[in-house]
Amino acid sequence: ELGHFTHYMEKEIFEQPTALENSMRGRFSDDDSTAKFGGLNLDPVQWRQIDRILFCACGTTWHACLTAEYLIEKYARIPVEVEYASEFRYRNAPLDKNTLVFVISQSGETLDTLEALREAKRKGYIVLGITNGVGSSIARETDGGIYQHAGPEIGVASTKAFTSQILLSGMLALHLGRMRDLSFGDGREMVAAFRSLPGLVSTVLDQADKIKEIAEKYADFSDFLFLGRQSMFPIALEGALKLKEISYIHAEGYPAGEMKHGPIALISEECPSVILSPHGDTLKKVISNIQETRARKGSVIAITSAGKDFPQDTADEIIHIPQAHDCIMPILATIPLQLLAYYIAVKRGCDVDKPRNLAKSVTVE
Ligand code: M6R
Repeated sequence: ELGHFTHYMEKEIFEQPTALENSMRGRFSDDDSTAKFGGLNLDPVQWRQIDRILFCACGTTWHACLTAEYLIEKYARIPVEVEYASEFRYRNAPLDKNTLVFVISQSGETLDTLEALREAKRKGYIVLGITNGVGSSIARETDGGIYQHAGPEIGVASTKAFTSQILLSGMLALHLGRMRDLSFGDGREMVAAFRSLPGLVSTVLDQADKIKEIAEKYADFSDFLFLGRQSMFPIALEGALKLKEISYIHAEGYPAGEMKHGPIALISEECPSVILSPHGDTLKKVISNIQETRARKGSVIAITSAGKDFPQDTADEIIHIPQAHDCIMPILATIPLQLLAYYIAVKRGCDVDKPRNLAKSVTVE
């Protein structure tokens, strides 16, 4: 089943172009420049009444929810909140009557998320889900939802399920945006961007050998920082989690702008930073974060879509990703971080598919 791959995680990373293709298949309307989902079970009037969305999830999937917050607020202008499922369940959070609750779970069996869903339903809220687990408990108990169709994910560390969740969140942002203020033309650009995604992901995967070389160079460090701004912040958190889970290296994700408010104290030649530096409004600020880091002898691995605007001497290592529509940039930036974590763990001799102390689906609270 592994084919020419050594681990399921590796196979699943490289399957992402296909998984993303499958997640979006049949879900665009060119006539309306939007995304459509068969199973959400809400009519346009109900959608219009919603003035807030609450997302609940755990782990990597919680990072997908944080990305969803950026995408939905940007394109649909609906306020979004994100909660850890395990916190929501016991917090008795006050929700407005027009709040829609969304739970996301790859497996559909995570007990914390299932209990959050039950708590929201008990209070009378409509609860929708995004899950990869067809017929799972979460799929059965939600009022409607979206199946990811990303294919089975065997590696304990989530990879293709995560990028598929972000893609579907972006498509949901498009769907909701087109019911509100997003124009036909803006919608068309987003549809084109989503369709181009599998090909663009492949071009990042083509750099695997280069990323492996970088990984092997940095595999002996015991601490890493991951920094990013805006929609790259949740991706920084995810990069840090992937590294922690499979290589047992201590890693922290932070919004790049927060560095000077504390984490800068950690920087030394013993602590490299992975800095997400996409082209755009905050590039200059991120470059100054890189300079501050290097001035303190911390090595920087930069992931950038800025091409020629990111000169070779800006960072110690540079991984280039394509510059594309903002709605797909978080996915493109995720791929190098997955590969980095994977190759570092392999180099350290770790059991990548079954990391210590972790289970694929956590069915205890
Ligand atoms: O199946 P779920 O999406 O509900 O799982 C949630 C988390 O347990 C999961 O994402 C976990 O953090 C993974 N080990 C991440 O790699």
